[in-house]
Amino acid sequence: MIIGIPKEIMERENRVAATPTTVKKYVQNGHQVMVEAGAGSASYFSDEEYQAAGARIVSDVEEIFQTADLILKVKEPLFNHQKGKHEVDMMKKGQYLITFLHPASPVNHRMINKLAEKGVIGLTLDGIPRISRAQSMDALTSMSTCAGYKGMIMAVNELAKFVPQIFSAVGMIRPANVLVIGTGVAGLQAIATAKRLGAVVHSLDIRGEANEQAQSLGTKVIDLKFPKDVVEGKGGYAKDLSTEWLLKEQEVLKEVIGKMDVIFLSALVPGHVAPILITEEMLEMMNPGSVIVDISIDQGGNCASTLPGETATVKGIKIIGIKNIPGYLPSSSTQMFAENVYNLVHYLVKDNRVVLDTDDEITSSILVTDGTRIVHEGTIDAMKRFH
Ligand code: NAI
Repeated sequence: MIIGIPKEIMERENRVAATPTTVKKYVQNGHQVMVEAGAGSASYFSDEEYQAAGARIVSDVEEIFQTADLILKVKEPLFNHQKGKHEVDMMKKGQYLITFLHPASPVNHRMINKLAEKGVIGLTLDGIPRISRAQSMDALTSMSTCAGYKGMIMAVNELAKFVPQIFSAVGMIRPANVLVIGTGVAGLQAIATAKRLGAVVHSLDIRGEANEQAQSLGTKVIDLKFPKDVVEGKGGYAKDLSTEWLLKEQEVLKEVIGKMDVIFLSALVPGHVAPILITEEMLEMMNPGSVIVDISIDQGGNCASTLPGETATVKGIKIIGIKNIPGYLPSSSTQMFAENVYNLVHYLVKDNRVVLDTDDEITSSILVTDGTRIVHEGTIDAMKRFH
C-alpha cells in the first residue's frame, strides 16, 4: 500500500501525521511512504530523517494525492492556496483518508459532501470511541493531554505572580490558587501540571468519578452536591445541565472565584455546546491580573467573554482563547498523534490493504464517507439540522 503524508496547510498548524519512527514501522510492514518535502519541519523532523526511515520525499503534494492509497493528515482537507486547489479536488476515487474531519461541524459540511462525491473513504479520528481497546488509537485523548499541560503553562505564563510558595529574604510569598473546572482528560493533566509547579489546586466537575480522580491527584474538590440523576446519564457520562442547574453551579462558583489566580476551563459534554460557567458579570468578582484559560473554546467556551483564538483582557482578567493548543507543543503532539494513527492503520490493514468491518464499533464510529455516500449518523443529523 502507498501511504501519503502531505504537509499541513492550516495556518499555524505545526503538526504532521507521521514521524520518522512511524514511517519506519510502515515501511517494515511492507508499505511505501511518500512524505511532502518539509512536512515535518515545524515539528522538527527533517526530510533527511524521513528519508533515512524509508520514505520518498516528494515536492509536489498533488503527486501524493494522485498516487497514495491512503492519505494521513492532522487537519481536515482545506483549500491549498499554493496549488490554487482544494485538497479534496486533488484526491482520487477509492482513496482512504484518515484525519480529524470534525464532520458534524457545519463549516465542514461542504467538504464532507465533496469527499462523498469524489468517492473518497473518509475516516475521522474524532470518532474513535473511548473504549479500552481503542485507547492506543485515541488521538483526541492524546491531544487533550497536550492541551491540559500546555494550556496550564500558557495560563501561568500570563500570571503576574509566582506559582509556588517562595521563601525569600523579604518573607514568605504564598502559592497561587488554581481552579480547574471540568476534570476529564485535559483537566486532569492541567491539575497534574499545576501541582508540579507548586500551586494550590482546586477542582470542580459534575461527575463523581471525575472528582475522585482529581482528588487522587491532590486537589481540593469543590463538591456541587447535585443529585446523581441530574448530572450523570447512562454509563456514568456527564449530562448537559438544564439552565436551572447551571445557574446553581454559577452560584457555587461565585463564592470561590474571588480567591483564584488561575481558572482552567475544560468542561464539556461531548456533542453539546460547552456550558457557560463564568458570565461576564462574574469576572468582576475576580482579582485583576487573574488569568482564565478557556480550552473549550472550539465548542463555544465555558466563559462568556472568551474571544475565539485570542488572548484578551476583560475587566482586568486575562482570558486565553487560543484554539490549537497541541500545535504549540508540536514535537510531543506530533509524536503522540503519529503513534495513534499508526495503531489505527495497523488495526484496519489486513493483507496489505484497508479492510473496513462496519460491524466493528471502532470502524463504524469513524467511517464518515464510504466511497459513495455519507454514512456517519452524527454528520447526517447535523446536516439536517443546519441546512
Ligand atoms: P472530557 O469529556 O474528558 O472532559 C470534560 C469534563 O467536563 C467531564 O469530566 C465532564 O464531566 C465535565 N463537565 C461537563 N459539564 C460540566 C459542568 N457543567 N461543570 C463542570 N464540569 C462539567 O473532555 P476533554 O478531552 O478533557 O476535553 C475538554 C475540552 O478541551 C473539550 O472542549 C475539548 O474540545 C477541548 N480541547 C481543546 C483543545 C485546544 O487546543 N483548545 C485541544 C484538546 C481538547
